[in-house]
Amino acid sequence: MRVIGVMSGTSYDAIDVAAAELTLRDDTVLLQPLGALSVPFAPDLRERIASSLPPAGTTYAQVCRLDAGLGQAFADAAARGLAELCHGRADLVVSHGQTMYHWVDAGRVHGTLQLGQPAWIADRTGLPVVSDLRSRDVVRGGQGAPLVSIFDVLLLGADARRRAALNLGGIANLTVLDGNPLAYDVGPANALVDAAARELGGDTFDVDGRRAARGTVHEGLLADLLADPYYARPAPKSTGKEHFHWAYLQQRLARREPLPVDDVVATVTELTARVVAAALERHRIDEVFASGGGTRNPWLMQRVAGLAPGCRVRTIADLGLGVDDKEAYAFALLGFLTVHGLAGTVPSCTGATAPAVLGSITPGNGPLRLPPPPASAPGRLLVAAASTY
Ligand SMILES: Nc1ncnc2c1ncn2[C@@H]1O[C@H](COP(=O)(O)OP(=O)(O)O)[C@@H](O)[C@H]1O
Ligand SMILES: [Mg+2]
Repeated sequence: MRVIGVMSGTSYDAIDVAAAELTLRDDTVLLQPLGALSVPFAPDLRERIASSLPPAGTTYAQVCRLDAGLGQAFADAAARGLAELCHGRADLVVSHGQTMYHWVDAGRVHGTLQLGQPAWIADRTGLPVVSDLRSRDVVRGGQGAPLVSIFDVLLLGADARRRAALNLGGIANLTVLDGNPLAYDVGPANALVDAAARELGGDTFDVDGRRAARGTVHEGLLADLLADPYYARPAPKSTGKEHFHWAYLQQRLARREPLPVDDVVATVTELTARVVAAALERHRIDEVFASGGGTRNPWLMQRVAGLAPGCRVRTIADLGLGVDDKEAYAFALLGFLTVHGLAGTVPSCTGATAPAVLGSITPGNGPLRLPPPPASAPGRLLVAAASTY
């Protein structure tokens, strides 16, 4: 089955599209990457996302316009994936949508909202679309995140070393491979770095970690940030930009004398490095495979490696998947599991009471035909044409 995964994370920097040929054979899913694209958001759409995210208020009119605008943007991106990566032939699109709110209360998730009306995608590509993948896990008492955990468990699980997968997007999430795998959002990855670079420095992000490398970590501010009770809360747990946003950082900055921009960026970058490295140490990880835009920040990567000396820090590129594409491939797998009637969650990772078949299916232009459900769920994922296999 040829599947196109369409993903936009909490940084809403670009729509990541990845196409894969997925084959289920006995207990193995074989993933043959067909390629990936990154489609930047139109500046006005990006601005509309930014201006309606918490803590800002919004209106139903804005929500409706955003749902349509995002649906159209995801449809354009999926259509490009279909034409440019699949020679016009694919079976399914899987769309994550844009998270606008992840409703966490006292550690429990009660709802999660991704916008990007899938009807636009189905109509534009003619293909069935799996969307709204998080909700069913939330209904089962899970965090609805990190949903990439099943991908990590299937890909990295069978190994004698203690391995982990780390995604450094807006938020940092970790999957710990273990007999009883664990996955959770560790804390912010780029969320506060981007906020500081944007609000104080007028940049979109801290390009190549240059400000962080130049700046000096302010220990008082760092201690203030590390005092957030989120870090001490037990897993499973998830968070988002409704918690780690500019106003959150601004409140903590207002308690002290003004700091140079580079020092603020250095401090929030160090915050990410500290919480990530502490998690790697706590779980005694031998080897971690990192992905996401944060891997492009050499200062951040160097700090993580320096603070977790017992852990070999690699990237998912070593397993044949691009650092920017991994999550889009992971969502392609989730939708593939859904149309086969297979669960897309690992309860020990999301905290759900039971595994769940994820998502809602929007039919394409033809009748909806689903493949017959296999007798058993796959136990591993192989990426074809990767150097290590
Ligand atoms: N060259 C770079 N230097 C530093 N940071 C980068 C670079 N490229 C990307 N990033 C960071 O990665 C973020 C996007 O990462 P991404 O994995 O797409 O996150 P998300 O999944 O939240 O969209 C950017 O907002 C930025 O903080
Ligand atoms: Mg992104």
